Amino acid sequence: MNDNAPEQPAQGLTPGGSAAIARSGNAPAGVPVMDVDPFSDAFLTDPYPDHERMREAGPVFWIPKYAIYASARHEQVRAILNDHATYISSAGVGLADFNKETPFRPRSLILEADPPDHTRARSVLARILSPRTVMQVRATFAAEAETLLDRLVEKARSEGEIDAVKDLSEVYPLKVFPDAVGLESEGREMLLLYGNMIFNAFGPRNELLVRAAEKVKPLTQWIMDHCKREMLRPGGFGDMIYQAADAGEISLDEAPLLVRSFLSAGVDTTVNGIGNALLCLAQHPEQYARLRADPSLARPAFEEALRYESAVQTFFRTTSVDASLSGITIPAGSKVLTFLAAANRDPRQWPDPERFDIERRPSGHMAFGSGIHGCVGQVVARLEGELILAGIAKRVKSLSLAGKPTRRLNNTLRALASLPLKLETA
Ligand code: HEM
Repeated sequence: MNDNAPEQPAQGLTPGGSAAIARSGNAPAGVPVMDVDPFSDAFLTDPYPDHERMREAGPVFWIPKYAIYASARHEQVRAILNDHATYISSAGVGLADFNKETPFRPRSLILEADPPDHTRARSVLARILSPRTVMQVRATFAAEAETLLDRLVEKARSEGEIDAVKDLSEVYPLKVFPDAVGLESEGREMLLLYGNMIFNAFGPRNELLVRAAEKVKPLTQWIMDHCKREMLRPGGFGDMIYQAADAGEISLDEAPLLVRSFLSAGVDTTVNGIGNALLCLAQHPEQYARLRADPSLARPAFEEALRYESAVQTFFRTTSVDASLSGITIPAGSKVLTFLAAANRDPRQWPDPERFDIERRPSGHMAFGSGIHGCVGQVVARLEGELILAGIAKRVKSLSLAGKPTRRLNNTLRALASLPLKLETA
């Protein structure tokens, strides 16, 4: 990626370096306290040991550093996400409380909205990204995957290895999804920088965010310019949003903000979903052998990788009233952090959760969220993941790490900076 975020070894802890501002707030009585900073470099580099400690601390716990409630268990994370009246999104789905602070950008009309506003925007985007509409781009997405993978196999033959991030997981989503939205090719790498900044902005104002935000002005301007109707190819997903405005389903002022939702949520997520899936397969050669033997396992393999190494790790909610969760009272106006990735390895939900098993079929995982805000782009994400994994399985006998992968730390995403892979081709 083209950002200046520090690159860290994928394994092992580094010293925490968060410049977060601690909020005031004493620990509420009767709630387990976790002295942890989920946005520190150390935590983000290897979150899994802390995830386990948090799950074991209780169904709900308190993080004093930010004066927030949190949950890391599947049952409670699911309950929070499915009770959108109690746990609202309109106060922001990051640490910032929009009831007290001004959002750094105009708030999302879908992600950061509650019904009935959310329902209106959601029905437009859900129709555009429905299985039926996405089926119409399947052939194009498949052809692009084939062309790219043929080229990469050649590169692996001539150069001995590829960087699965720079050569593949960043290239493919950056090509197919913005094409489908109808965006011009020039300057598209901005979407990676923008995604990096947006997902950092759900966390505290730590160094990761400060560094990403240095570029915010030109990026925001570029994105908003490219969300205008005249910049979008007729018939693409972006243009379909404007057609919904023509039909009176949303206003013309709302249309560019919904195009922005596609561009901010639709690239960095799949980039890291695909990157993490390739890392999982390289680290588990016996699982890759099963995929190679039966490429129709590509879809469940992608799904399991989303559970095992969730690209989106966390999201916040805010309580609209005094809430009661597993016997704990959470006062109105509290920020509540849901650890999606920790829920995805909760032994209360998954047998042998630390095992990466491409035949698991992990239905009910939280990698796409749950409830009314559950990822509206999941059909697209699954299509991209499936096409890449199936295309590799058809061409590559075995894949293995050719060097140490590096992580790109982000307050919300589990992201990779590089993934050197050796591909043994048929
Ligand atoms: C592997 C890839 C992806 C992952 C892991 C992912 C994850 C998520 C998660 C966890 C949420 C829930 C947010 C919440 O509950 O507050 C979400 C919502 C959303 N996603 Fe995705 N996403 C992915 C791909 C995409 C794609 C390709 C798009 C295409 C536009 C997209 C667009 C959105 C939008 C607009 C929302 C907000 C939905 C709402 O609030 O109703 N995502 N995503």
